[in-house]
Formats: sequence, C-alpha cells, structure tokens
Amino acid sequence: MHAAVVRSFDRPPRYEQFEPPRPESSEEVVGEVLAVGLHPRVRTGAAGRHYTSSRVLPMIPGVDGVARRPDGGLAYFVASDDVIGTMADRAIIDSHRAIALRSDADVVRLAAAMNPAMSGWVALRRRVPLAAGQSVLVLGATGNAGAMAVQIAKHLGAGRVVAAGRNRARLDALTGCGADDLIALTDDPHDVADAVGRSAAEVDIVLDYLWGRPTEQALTAVLTRRADRSRRLDWIQIGAVAGPTIALPSVALRSADLRLLGNGQGAVSARSYLAELPSLVNAIENGSLAVATTTARLCDVEQVWSESDDPGVRTVLIP
Ligand SMILES: NC(=O)c1ccc[n+]([C@@H]2O[C@H](COP(=O)([O-])OP(=O)(O)OC[C@H]3O[C@@H](n4cnc5c(N)ncnc54)[C@H](OP(=O)(O)O)[C@@H]3O)[C@@H](O)[C@H]2O)c1
Repeated sequence: MHAAVVRSFDRPPRYEQFEPPRPESSEEVVGEVLAVGLHPRVRTGAAGRHYTSSRVLPMIPGVDGVARRPDGGLAYFVASDDVIGTMADRAIIDSHRAIALRSDADVVRLAAAMNPAMSGWVALRRRVPLAAGQSVLVLGATGNAGAMAVQIAKHLGAGRVVAAGRNRARLDALTGCGADDLIALTDDPHDVADAVGRSAAEVDIVLDYLWGRPTEQALTAVLTRRADRSRRLDWIQIGAVAGPTIALPSVALRSADLRLLGNGQGAVSARSYLAELPSLVNAIENGSLAVATTTARLCDVEQVWSESDDPGVRTVLIP
C-alpha cells in the first residue's frame, strides 16, 4: 500500500510504499481509507511529542478517518495503534473504535470535524455533563476545536456561551455561531483580567484549549470577581496551544469550589468515546456545527505538512 511514513521525528512524513497492516482479531478488518484529517494531534504524534507516543519508527501518522469496509459500508474509525495510523490507502478498522456511517455520508466533512468536535462534545457529555441553562466559557475559541465547542455548548443546551480568543476576526465570527459574549485576549494582562471578570466571572464550566499564561490570567480573574466562590466551577483542560504548564496558586483551590479536570485519551474510556460518536456524527451531518475544510492528496503529504493551515480550516488528506 501507499502511506505517509515518518522515519525521523524531526522531518515531515513522506509518501512511500509500506507493508499493509494485517487484522489481529475477529474485531478487525482492513478498510480502504477515504479521508483523513490533519489535526494538531496528528502533527504532535508524528513529531514523537504526544503523551501517548511510543516513539517507534517508522510510523504512519493519522489518528482517525473515514474508510470503506470490505463489506462496502462506510465507517468513521479511530486508530488503535500509534505506530500504524490512518494516513495510508489501507488501515485497520477495529469495531470497538468505529461506527457505521450512511452510504451518502460527507466523508471529508466528517474526517475534518470529528476530532476537534469530539473534545468539546465529550467534555460536556462525559466529563462534566452540561445541565440545561448553564453557562460556559470557551478559552481559545478561535481554533477548529474551540469554535466547535462554542456551537456544541449551545447545541447541548447552554444558556450562555462566552468565547475568548486572540484572533479578532475569528472571534467576531463566533457571534453568528452561538457565542453570547466575546473576550479578546491581548498581551495586556490587565485588559484580559477586566474582560474575563466582566463577562465570565459567573460561568459554570470552562473548556480550556489554551493553558499557559492566558489560563493563569483567566482563572485568577474568574475567581476574584465571582460573587459566590462556593458555587461550583468546573475547569476542563483540553488543549495547550499557549503553554504546557501553569503556575497555580494554592489559594485558588482553597478559596473556591474549583474542580480542575482534563478531557482526552486516558481521562475518558474508549467505550465512552464510542458511545458518543453516533450523536456527534448526527450533529455534524445535520449542519448543527459549521465545518470549514480544504483537501489535498495524500501523495502530497510532505509538502502539505510544511504549509500552515488557514485559521479555522481543517486540511483533509485523500489517499
Ligand atoms: N483533548 C482532546 O480531546 C483534544 C481534541 C482535539 C484537540 N485538542 C487540542 O486542542 C487544541 C486546539 O486544537 P484545534 O484542532 O482547535 O487546533 P487549531 O485549529 O490549530 O486551533 C488552534 C488555535 O489556537 C489559537 N492560539 C494559538 N496560540 C494561542 C494563544 N497563545 N492564545 C490564544 N489563542 C492561541 C490559534 O489562533 P490564532 O493563532 O489565530 O490566534 C488557533 O486558532 C490543540 O492543543 C489540540 O491538541 C484536544
């Protein structure tokens, strides 16, 4: 088969011939891959920097995709192996990590949207089930995952959704996608503290795609401006585009009913993820979530890898 192959963690994958994978149990079949999203998670894995990486080379990147099963049916599937991934013309479909799709499913849209959308969806369904009318702050709302999280929060019944991000044009566009209030993240910590304190001090749940300095500033602002700090605040760590760590003052945990938790592989079981996939596919297919995509051929993977993505647009590779 042909695949994107990583032979060194500091170089982009190359399109090469590769030994096709073989099923290892009755739950596995080899599928014909139709579309694969180039998500940030895929880039981190191919650089050997993801927390699940076993750092075995050569490896095929790609964490999910849409494929045709040997029986002709379409499936959305998640790779069960971090070494032999989905950026190939063939991949293993494990029935424990796949769901059937309609024969007319939009394969590019699903390959683009499932990974970023799953983060907000699973956070609000499995980590902290959203109660109708609760308010949600999305920290880092201008990326693919954050913008979908804004729409997902509204779709799942949030009363008020506040979107925070630094890309002004992308932030403004979220007003038409479910954001009730916007917070522009700037380099001035006083501005950020004021804006967060004004618009988000009373939120119930934070979906945090940023971490690093913006999280430190926002967390302090929410806790110091909150009218009743004993009212529960669930802060869900999802992404870390602004930094891998934060400095957390101990008083933040003593002075408020702050629950700090994360959402990702390991925090949620594969079984729970699988249970959420059908309803998420429906939301993407019925247009409840806006999805912007661009496609490229898998044989051009080396070139595509070094190009930066347009903000809010997910690249999908077609074998
Ligand atoms: N845990 C999970 O289940 C899960 C699932 C999906 C994604 N994620 C993680 O979530 C994060 C976002 O993923 P994505 O698919 O949305 O990526 P994306 O589409 O590339 O978006 C990333 C966004 O982050 C913004 N950004 C970068 N640095 C920033 C900063 N210092 N302050 C404010 N905004 C900043 C960028 O906006 P501008 O540069 O335009 O300002 C960009 O729009 C990644 O870390 C990803 O790994 C986690």
